Amino acid sequence: MAQLWGGRFTKQTDELVNEFNASLKFDRRLFEQDIRGSLAHAAMLTAQGILSEEEGALIRDGLTRIRTAAESGDLKIEGDYEDIHSFVEANLIGLIGDAGKKLHTGRSRNDQVAVDMRLYIRDEIDETKKLIASLLGTVCRIMEENTDTYMAGFTHLQKAQPVTLAHHFGAYFEMFRRDYERLVSIRDRMNVCPLGSGALAGTTYPLDREMTASLLDFDRPCENSMDGVSDRDYVIEYLDALSIIMMHLSRLSEEIIIWNSNEYRFVELDDTYATGSSIMPQKKNPDIAELIRGKTGRVYGALTSMLVTMKALPLAYDKDMQEDKEMTFDAIDTTKGCITLMTGMLGSMTFNKERMERSAQQGFSNATDAADYLVRKGVPFRDAHGMIGRLVLRCISLGVSMDELPLAEYRAESESFDEDIYQAISLKSCVSKRLTKGAPGGMPAEIAGAKAFLSGIS
Ligand code: ARG
Repeated sequence: MAQLWGGRFTKQTDELVNEFNASLKFDRRLFEQDIRGSLAHAAMLTAQGILSEEEGALIRDGLTRIRTAAESGDLKIEGDYEDIHSFVEANLIGLIGDAGKKLHTGRSRNDQVAVDMRLYIRDEIDETKKLIASLLGTVCRIMEENTDTYMAGFTHLQKAQPVTLAHHFGAYFEMFRRDYERLVSIRDRMNVCPLGSGALAGTTYPLDREMTASLLDFDRPCENSMDGVSDRDYVIEYLDALSIIMMHLSRLSEEIIIWNSNEYRFVELDDTYATGSSIMPQKKNPDIAELIRGKTGRVYGALTSMLVTMKALPLAYDKDMQEDKEMTFDAIDTTKGCITLMTGMLGSMTFNKERMERSAQQGFSNATDAADYLVRKGVPFRDAHGMIGRLVLRCISLGVSMDELPLAEYRAESESFDEDIYQAISLKSCVSKRLTKGAPGGMPAEIAGAKAFLSGIS
């Protein structure tokens, strides 16, 4: 195995140890970041006179050629190398000779991997933000198109009070908006550069850490070199943000699954986002929503795994930290895939407005409004609650909705009822009268706010 060390060893490492220790098969993902970090380090070493101009130019040229060769497929990122850092360095030395051996001056793989991982996570945060922005765009469009799609809002999965589909999706807009903002704040906090921390205690070379930080678009170098090589809490914060995104996606998935069931039929999945059964010809299954719901566990697993890996690790670098990669990469791929699929599924889904409205009418979701009607006529709320409860029972025994119950039945319960009760409990007036901030009657303002947020982030 091509190794970056070996001088103090008298024997070859055991083959099993090499295999167990090696990380190239997964840290090859950090190739681009490793090149970027190395280019910045070499530029700084040159500016500081630690490398000559000629050596600096050779290294820059060599790294660029390695990057081009890997991009074109001429250079495969594989082989008998311990990790991505060894791979790049060995190839550089192979290409430019002795000058390549000077690249690692004033650097350790500990600060090298720390900067690579930070660059990688920062890139992925930016990608995740874009995907969430596009999901928010789709949610906002559904809100705009459904301000007059009446439905029951649910508590305990029981019809509760009338809302609109716009209002229901408005709740998801808020969840995904917070997810977006959470990513922004994690990015702000993690955007410091560990390069120059060395193995743990910096170096005696006159490195310009401000320069490498700025070349790599970091806000500043990290304050403490031991923290620089051992901090992975930004990975945990990002996995936490991904887990919360998955939690939100899984709640929405669950609702889509329920709404798509034969009993509800509130939504119709587009054929492009549904699947069939190998035996039951009639089936059109919501597999995508179920998979998003299912994959949530996998992302939570990555978060838990990372928390446990980091627990009680003594300062500074420990090899345990190499375990920060595989599960994190998997969680990133999984979550990004799920956001994209959810955006496509939502964008192509149709809503059965009539069924939603009929279902709301039949479920006594306007019972609170009927009680409020009595309150407006001077009946104390607690008495009104009892009267409407009895009327609901009456409706159930007659097999009618509250809109269909004859006025005589209402008046038998209370003389306060008049013909205007029907207007008062229509879904439309139930919704339009709910004007508390954040309530379904206030959707125009809420949608305007959502659109302003979207235009601010795009
Ligand atoms: N593959 C290692 C990791 O991911 C790179 C750092 C190696 N440092 C060391 N001291 N062995 O953490």
